[in-house]
Amino acid sequence: ITRIGVLTSGGDAPGMNAAIRAVVRSAKYYNLEVFGIFRGYEGLIQNDIKKLENRDVAYILERGGTFLKSARSQEFRTPEGRQTAYDNLKSHGIDALVVIGGDGSLTGAHLFYKEFGIPSIGLPGTIDNDLSGTDSTIGFDTACNTAIEAIDKIRDTASSHDRLFFVEVMGRDAGFIAVNAGIGSGAAATLIPERKMPVENLIERLKSRAKAKKQSNIVIVAEGGKSGGALEISKKVKKFLPTYDIRVTILGHLQRGGSPSSFDRLLASKLGVAAVEGLIHGKEDVMAGIINNKIVYTPIKRAIVDDKEVDEDDFRVAKILSQ
Ligand code: F6P
Repeated sequence: ITRIGVLTSGGDAPGMNAAIRAVVRSAKYYNLEVFGIFRGYEGLIQNDIKKLENRDVAYILERGGTFLKSARSQEFRTPEGRQTAYDNLKSHGIDALVVIGGDGSLTGAHLFYKEFGIPSIGLPGTIDNDLSGTDSTIGFDTACNTAIEAIDKIRDTASSHDRLFFVEVMGRDAGFIAVNAGIGSGAAATLIPERKMPVENLIERLKSRAKAKKQSNIVIVAEGGKSGGALEISKKVKKFLPTYDIRVTILGHLQRGGSPSSFDRLLASKLGVAAVEGLIHGKEDVMAGIINNKIVYTPIKRAIVDDKEVDEDDFRVAKILSQ
């Protein structure tokens, strides 16, 4: 391997810049050339590729977003799109890829590897934390911190007005952000796609809290919940508790922005180096992650299988502390 291409794809996540920087700097350390591919697979198809030097990645470690930009490419889903992408890679002499993104992006890397044999290493870059093969994905910690900080502010106004707030957090179809935000903000209940909580149970919970003289309540709702988002659930609850003063806040994309936390900077930096070292040692079609503080390479096919579970203990803690 002499030339590595690096791209970020899918929803951006805080820490992606730190990962890019680590890929560039470690590649240089090992005397490899690095090419930045802009706007993910879309830029690969459009040949938006530029050689990167150490100075190109100065002062990006602490910045949110991704300076390589990101996209969700429809064209890369087609065989023709992938053929053009491959031709462009070859025209630059790029012989290995580092793909930073979530499950859709890593699925693309896996397919590309299968079709063209380009050695590729994925890095888990998503706020959703829904990839196996790593305890935490890049951006998840920052997103949880952002959500908790926002909910603290909602708590202030909820207490002043004795209100019930439903706060919707991101996570696509996973409840990792919701459970962390629920524990970290002292929520009255946390509703996640992975566990059913009938509205009746939620009503019971709220009534028993009222008996305990708790006047304000915050209920965290993960966006991918089967009983609907925060707005829908709030309407159902209002029917049972018409006297409650209810408000809804959807945190949305603010959870994707911001300067990465120290945890995400370290994770992204270690994984960026692990990606380059993995490629040098002949690893391909794997995702680099950290489990129990050790770098682990997991076949991409396994990492993207949707079997990462919200920790049973975490969910129990959230429940115990919400009484
Ligand atoms: O995968 C990251 C994520 O932020 C999810 O939590 C959310 O469901 C989705 O992306 C939103 O995507 P978009 O930015 O395309 O609206």
